[in-house]
This record gives sequence, structure tokens and C-alpha cells, in this order.
Amino acid sequence: MSYPFKIKSLEAYQAASEKAVKDPEGFWSDVAGSFLWRKRWDTVLNWNFKEPNIEWFKGGKLNVTENCLDRHLGTLGNTPAIIWEPNDPEEHHRVLTYRELYNKVVQFANVLKNNGVKKGDRVCIYMGMVPELAIATLACARIGAIHSVIFGGFSAQSIADRLEDAHAEFIVTCDGAYRGNKEIPLKSVIDDALVQCRFVKRVIVLTRTRTPISMLKGRDVWWEDEIKKVETMGNPDCPAEEMDAEDPLFILYTSGSTGKPKGVVHTTGGYMVYATYSFVNVFQYEQGQVHFCTADIGWITGHSYIVYGPLCAGATSVIFEGVPTWPDAGRFWDVVDKYKVNILYTAPTAIRSLMGFGTAPLVGKDLSSLKVLGSVGEPINEEAWHWFDEHVGRKRCPIVDTWWQTETGGIMISNMAGVTPSKPSYATLPLPGVQPVLVDENGREIEGNDVSGNLCIRFPWPGILRTTYGDHERCRQNYFATYENLYFTGDGCYRDEKGNYRITGRVDDVLNVSGHRIGTAEVENAINMHAGVVESAVVGYPHDIKGQGIYAYVIFDNTHEDDNLTKMDIIQTVSRIIGAIAKPDKIQFVSGLPKTRSGKIMRRILRKIAEGETGSLGDTSTLLDPSVVDEIIKGRV
Ligand code: WT7
Repeated sequence: MSYPFKIKSLEAYQAASEKAVKDPEGFWSDVAGSFLWRKRWDTVLNWNFKEPNIEWFKGGKLNVTENCLDRHLGTLGNTPAIIWEPNDPEEHHRVLTYRELYNKVVQFANVLKNNGVKKGDRVCIYMGMVPELAIATLACARIGAIHSVIFGGFSAQSIADRLEDAHAEFIVTCDGAYRGNKEIPLKSVIDDALVQCRFVKRVIVLTRTRTPISMLKGRDVWWEDEIKKVETMGNPDCPAEEMDAEDPLFILYTSGSTGKPKGVVHTTGGYMVYATYSFVNVFQYEQGQVHFCTADIGWITGHSYIVYGPLCAGATSVIFEGVPTWPDAGRFWDVVDKYKVNILYTAPTAIRSLMGFGTAPLVGKDLSSLKVLGSVGEPINEEAWHWFDEHVGRKRCPIVDTWWQTETGGIMISNMAGVTPSKPSYATLPLPGVQPVLVDENGREIEGNDVSGNLCIRFPWPGILRTTYGDHERCRQNYFATYENLYFTGDGCYRDEKGNYRITGRVDDVLNVSGHRIGTAEVENAINMHAGVVESAVVGYPHDIKGQGIYAYVIFDNTHEDDNLTKMDIIQTVSRIIGAIAKPDKIQFVSGLPKTRSGKIMRRILRKIAEGETGSLGDTSTLLDPSVVDEIIKGRV
């Protein structure tokens, strides 16, 4: 494949950036022109950020899977599309060529159809990192069903909330999943969720761990049996559903500063174009290279850079079922060595945790195939950046530090490997077509360099979210109402003297724990569900490996005898209600919380205390009861 939109030099980067500002429609219609459309669009872009209403390539007809699969069959039919590395290195790996992946996707698309799934229906996918997860995702796209992938670490309650919100009547899951030395009982978690969700009509269960599970007659069916049924039906084809560019492709739930997670909606044409454009340019992908993104497909990183971006580009994408530290801390390097990986895209939290094992796990691993390294999910500290550069890239691989969000669909600010310069701990420059602005609290633009502010984007790009499922007003409120005519990211940012961007972290009540996004309000609500808890307040604090840890201040009715046991109970409650990723790292029992006279918790103070900066609490005179602060400082854990 050739990529006409690939930007290969600094000069070309500058020219593209200029063109994308002067003539965005011309710029993006050139990019989109190299994809497979059944019918070309009527208008490139309609937009306003007020409602918001954003439409890219309206009237264009296409199916993403024809771009990911059908289009490649002639030239790349025998090229590996997916290489699957199982959790246990002793188990056989699997390779699916584009032809094989195509066959499996159409087959499973027919299974979905047989089970009553139609265009526009929502299908929840809750699986481990097996090839069938990608297959199920693409099969939904094939028939125009909207997938909602839920990360395998979320609890039954979280699943039930998401099923209800999207009114998803169909579920694809596994009996269980392997992750390191753990086995996760996925189907059993689904069963618990479905006690509340009687509207679910069908659960399709893939065999992976063959752990005993219950199969409810009339509702639950085995993946393998359903495949056999469509095999005996004869017609192995499944024509792709014709979609409008603005038809929804998927929903992905993500945390905000208030309330329950919201369903970010991405549509077909713009998302596909943007995921592929950013994939090829940021990593400077060349046909034939092996791309290994270590994220889970349950997050946006996996959607865009394991499934859609790489497959649209005809790349070979590695799916890894396991974890970086099992059976030992050399696992990533074994995978790189085994499949001659060219691009390794991972998260700072993984790098920091591997750093802790020293360089011994790297000894004897052939990493010479690596050409580009990537980082995503949270700010990468300089120490981790240099370790990655020296010990993994051996100082010959550019590192791309990619800033983006679930809502942006693809990478927004990042250096482009070997094309634009890198700078440790800086995401550096926007991709051509992305127009960042920094604003002060009043929404006034902060011009010039060597300045800090809140990061906004002033012009739409094809991958921007279109709405939050079932609640457009929430989308407007969250992203488009803070500052007029701007998309607000929720991140703080510094722009250096040369115009490079450095993301400094969230300015709202959203935490980033090991690259996972968690709302403080969500954790508080979960803690408050625990018997005996009167009130709680949750903040983040710097954590050596996770980036941020979760610190919870809890007011408890004083009937408990053993603080430690109660803390473990609270942790268990959070794990039940949200999932293990949201477990508090530290819990402090307090008798009161610092509140203003109007009853608002002053998180700024709690954050400072959790960070250990008790000497610089700032103004506490507006507090209802300032003495509570001294008590909290004394009891710090
Ligand atoms: C938040 C989005 C999109 C990938 C996975 C996370 C933080 C993401 C970086 C980076 C500094 C980063 C931001 C952002 N973030 N990448 N390279 N440098 N911060 O997606 O769960 O939607 O979280 O992750 O705070 O707002 P997400």
C-alpha cells in the first residue's frame, strides 16, 4: 500500500500544517480521497461548536471493514493482519492473514445477523485480548451494529450501567480470560450484570479458559456452535452494510469529573480517516512493518492503534493477551524479539514498572528490529523517557510522545517519528489539521510562547467525538460550554519558547491511574455505598509507578474496631462497584472534610495534603471549620 497522505519531511510537515489551516476542507478531502468509498461525500465539513454539530464527509457512503479488509485482499491477502501472542508463552501463537481475518469477520458477522443483530443495534463486547475480540468488533462494523467494548477489568455493576445507558441487547463475551497468573471469570461477571438487565436478548460466549460457567437456555449460546450453524448454511459471504460517513461506528465509555461514565460516540468516516492518518504519520508506518501496541482493545488506544488504524493501513498488528511482568519482566522484549516488532507503542506506567526490574530482563533479547517507540496515556517523566530511549531503543529509535483522548479518536499532539524533533516529556507539536490553543480561566487566548494555560482545540478534526450517547446536552456541557467556540480537553498545558506543547495533567476532577481514566466522583460514590461510610473525598497524588495514586478521605461512623479491616472492606466495595483499577491506594479516616461555608469540599487543600505539601495550603480562611485541616494533616497516611 502507498499512503498519499504520509508526511515525510520537516518541510512537508510545515507545508501540510499551513495548508490544513488555510484550507481545511481541501486538506482533509485529499486525505480522505485515498480511502475506499462507495459514494463520495457531498460536503467535507459542516460544523459549529455551539450545539455542537459536527459532520465530516456527509453523504459519503462506505463501510470501514471494506477499508480494513476487502481492499487488502488482492495485494495483502497472505500478509499477516494479526499476530496473537497468548498469555502463556508456552501456548502456540496465532497468525491471521488478511484473507483469514476477512473470512472470520464475515463469518462472525453472519453469526450476529443470525442472532438478530441489525444495523444500529448496540452490541456490548466484554472479552480478553484474543483475536476474536478484534473479530467481533469488526463483525459489528461489517453489519453496521454499534460496538461498545468494555475493558475486561470492569465490574458487573459498571457493565450493567453501560448496558442500560446504551440499551445494548446483545453481548459477546468469553467464558474467562487469562492475564498473567490470574484467570478472570468474564461470563460469570456478565451473569451478575444481567440480573439487572433483563432486556439483554443474547449472549454469545467464546471458549477460552473452559472454566465452568452457567449457560442460560434461550439467552446464552456458544460462539463455536453459532459458527458451525453459519458454516452449514453455505454462503460464506457477508456483504458489508453501506454506512453514511456520519453513522455511529462505536460507543466507548469514559470517565468525566461528574456522574457516571459517558458514552463517547465516534462515527464511521471521520474516525476511520483520522485513526489511519495519525497512525501512518506519527509512527511513519511503512508497508510490511510489524506494529505492537500494548494497550487493551477495551480502551481507545486499542480501538485506534490495534484495530482500525493499523488494519486500514494494511499493517501487521500484534495482539498480546498477557501482562508485561509475567512470567517475568522480559515479556515485552520476548515479544519484540519473537515477531521482529518494528514499532512498540506502550504506556509510561508500563515503562516505569519495568524500570524497577533493572536491565537484566533485557539481556540477550534481540531488539534490533525496533524502529520507532511510542508512549501514550499520561505524561512521561524524563527518567522513564531516557530509560526507554537507552535500554529499549538503544538510542537509535525516535520516541513519539502522543497526546490524545478517547474523545479525539486519534493522536492530536505528538512528534512524528524521525520527521519532527522529539523533546523528553513533551508531546511537542500538533499533527497537521489540529489547532491547539491555550486559554486562561476566562477563556481568553494566551498567545505567544513560554506560557501555560488550559488546552483547547479551535477547529474540528475528523476524529472528534460527535456526541455522548443518549445525552447530547452532556456532551455540550462537558466539552463545548466551558469556553465559547472551543473544544475543551480538560488538560493543563505549557507551551515552550519554541512552541512545543507539554501536557501537565488534568485540571478537572479526573484522575489518571496507570494511564486509566477514573473520575473522583465515581470513586467517591462507590466508597459511599459501603455500610458505615458517611462521606468521602477522593483526590490524586503522585505515585512512582502508576503516575497518580488514589487517596481517599473517609468519614466513617465510629462503630468499627479495626481500621485496617475496614479499609480492606472499602477497597473491596470499590472493586465490586467499579473494578480493581479504581481501588484507593490510601485511605484516611477523618472526622470532617474541609468545606467552604456553602458546603463545597475544598479539594485543593486535600490534594496538597495527599501530595505531602502541607506547608503550602494557601488560603484556608474561607473554611467553615479550619481546625479540621490540622487534624487531617496529623492523620496523613
Ligand atoms: C487523558 C485522556 C488517548 C490515549 C489513552 C488515554 C492523558 C494521554 C498523554 C500524553 C500527557 C496524556 C491526558 C488526557 N494523556 N496521553 N502523551 N501526555 N498526558 O485516553 O483515557 O481518554 O485519557 O490522558 O490527561 O486528557 P483517555
